[in-house]
Amino acid sequence: MPNAYISGTGFYVPPRVVTNDDLRTKYGIDTTHEWILQRTGIEERHYAEEGIGSADLGAKAAEAAIAKAGIQKTDLDMIIFATLSPDHCFPGSGVYMQQKLGLCDGPNAKFVPALDVRNQCSGFLYSLGTATSMVKSGAAKHVLVVGAEVHSAALDLSTRGRTVASLFGDGAGAVIVSATEEDRGIRTWKLGADGRYADVLAQRVWDIKKRPFIPVNAEGVGQVAPEMLWAQMDGKTVFKHAIERMMTVLMEACIGAGCTGQDIDLFVFHQANMRINQFIQNQLGIPDEKIVHNIQRYGNTTAATIPILLAEAEASGKLKRGMKVAMIAFGSGFTWGAAIADW
Ligand code: ACO
Repeated sequence: MPNAYISGTGFYVPPRVVTNDDLRTKYGIDTTHEWILQRTGIEERHYAEEGIGSADLGAKAAEAAIAKAGIQKTDLDMIIFATLSPDHCFPGSGVYMQQKLGLCDGPNAKFVPALDVRNQCSGFLYSLGTATSMVKSGAAKHVLVVGAEVHSAALDLSTRGRTVASLFGDGAGAVIVSATEEDRGIRTWKLGADGRYADVLAQRVWDIKKRPFIPVNAEGVGQVAPEMLWAQMDGKTVFKHAIERMMTVLMEACIGAGCTGQDIDLFVFHQANMRINQFIQNQLGIPDEKIVHNIQRYGNTTAATIPILLAEAEASGKLKRGMKVAMIAFGSGFTWGAAIADW
């Protein structure tokens, strides 16, 4: 059975930077830089322009990861696309990105499967686990895993929506999971979910149990109430469960990989809130040099946070061949996951 390792990483964020002060001055939100910074660690985030979707951002990150892996697009055997902000209701963004990557064009067209993953902030680790299994089973040699989000189009950028709106940003990260006979790669992955908390962080938009699924006015035009249109979150409950689940799943992953927390060279946590990650860091006694953060610059990019961090850490030399890396995430669902890799 081959091992599965991450052969290439890449990321892309749209150029427009929106600072905490911009939320106040440009969008008229009653907030302050200090409030957001103190509670979340976020200083700024990036917003895509109108006309740009998650598949666009994902394609750019994917191109970078493919180049880094030193493979051709036609070497890919599968695409896995994780997002909570798909371009459309259906089909998923994976097929749109496949098209944007040029995989459907010309004599070398390769119509590889495109799987869409709907696990919010844990989406990247759910995808990584799936890609690892595909590679280890021999079903695929190179799997493109993308986490990409355009949150800015679906945030209530008003004082009413300030709690959620101040947290999220747009961006994409990608990795290539490849087969190798070398003694390296993803040693274990653990995933979990607790559907009792499905409504604690949710964006419902429509209700398929209703007829029709979106209320319509006399002219037949769909009308969505604000509490359905925008994401709703009980932030304190998210905070508490994130800490518990991330610490537990990290321990489970260490046991699965036959290592301890001390053996980990680099911790790559989902970037939901700096305070969540600092709390875990303090509880586990993780030294600063063993952990990377970028929430200050990007906010929470949901499925994209971990692959963006991996790509940045690799590019800056913080993440090197031979290191033992722990990745941990928690998000809406609730869902969570961890993976340990020998880089
Ligand atoms: N600026 C100024 N004031 C604000 C803002 C803002 N951006 N947002 C909320 N407030 C106000 C609230 O309206 C409230 O005012 P009130 O007391 O007059 O009603 C007050 O601040 C306190 O609001 P809370 O929601 O109780 O604030 P809390 O201390 O819980 O902090 C926060 C909110 C930062 C969201 C926190 O709960 C949190 O970080 N939770 C984790 C949630 C998270 O990370 N979600 C990300 C997605 S899930 C994931 O990725 C894991």
